[in-house]
Amino acid sequence: MKKRILVTGGAGFIGSHLCKYLLEQGHEVLCLDNYFTGSKDNVLPLLKSPYFELIRHDIMNPYHAEVDEIYNLACPASPIHYQYDPIKTINVSVMGAINVLNLANQVKAKVLQASTSEVYGDPKIHPQTESYWGNVNPIGIRSCYDEGKRCAETIFMDYHRQYQVKIKIIRIFNTYGPNMHPQDGRVVSNFIVQALQNKDITIYGTGNQTRSFQYIDDLIKGMTRMMATGEEFIGPVNIGNPGEFTIWELAEHIIRLTGSKSKIIYLPLPSDDPTQRKPDISLAREKLNWEPLISLEDGLKETIRYFKGIL
Ligand SMILES: NC(=O)c1ccc[n+]([C@@H]2O[C@H](COP(=O)([O-])OP(=O)(O)OC[C@H]3O[C@@H](n4cnc5c(N)ncnc54)[C@H](O)[C@@H]3O)[C@@H](O)[C@H]2O)c1
Repeated sequence: MKKRILVTGGAGFIGSHLCKYLLEQGHEVLCLDNYFTGSKDNVLPLLKSPYFELIRHDIMNPYHAEVDEIYNLACPASPIHYQYDPIKTINVSVMGAINVLNLANQVKAKVLQASTSEVYGDPKIHPQTESYWGNVNPIGIRSCYDEGKRCAETIFMDYHRQYQVKIKIIRIFNTYGPNMHPQDGRVVSNFIVQALQNKDITIYGTGNQTRSFQYIDDLIKGMTRMMATGEEFIGPVNIGNPGEFTIWELAEHIIRLTGSKSKIIYLPLPSDDPTQRKPDISLAREKLNWEPLISLEDGLKETIRYFKGIL
């Protein structure tokens, strides 16, 4: 059935892929963005479709439209961007959540929150399950994002309990792919850009800290499957790739795949940088019949092709 779907943050990295996928599925898409980190270029090809609408709006202000579903992605997501104006970051998370939930309540739409593995902070259990409450510094330089996202989850749950709003919460783990911002400082885009320019590859810390890397297409499948679930399952559910790599291994892969002459250099680790991250995805397997299918090698090749095109 054709639905009218609002994607906040739709001109960003994840949002642009989601808008494209939803259009391909035959839905009508309203893409709302203030272009803080996103760009019209990411959704330019979609403007050809009469079922795609681009709306310039800041989600800190209320927005109204008759829609069936809402994906709430609007929020700066990389440390460079979310630390640029931390007060705005926490405001966007909190006020954005309230505004989309009020809208969902008014028009009886289903609403999905793009939460994050950052709600686990520097985790004391490994891999991270949804039942783990996390180990988050409330007063550090990452807190505007981590606590903002935690608070958004709280608000989602309270709107569900108090007003029976139909909510879904997904916790997204590190995701990469085409349309990432080349200067957003996230590890995959950073390394690829440095490698393609034969510049030094900057590893923060020893490089032994681990991360799991999920290719964007896998995330979009998980996300849309979550939205399609019935009212009995609201999450939170981890959506990520459990394959675990050290940052050093990632750098080596990227140097090999780009044929780069770059050398690795080591810089001091920023504060509160988690030492390990890996999702337990048993819940997503069980409830969504979902698991990531794209290998790091294949995902990196696609992403490198994209960055070669734009640099
Ligand atoms: N990429 C990841 O690995 C990852 C991991 C966990 C969670 N997430 C979450 O997914 C969402 C999308 O992340 P992304 O990686 O695509 O980042 P992104 O920066 O590319 O996208 C965020 C989008 O939101 C827009 N935006 C920011 N503030 C806004 C506001 N006040 N009003 C309207 N639009 C606003 C930006 O312009 C941008 O288009 C974010 O909420 C992020 O927290 C991403």
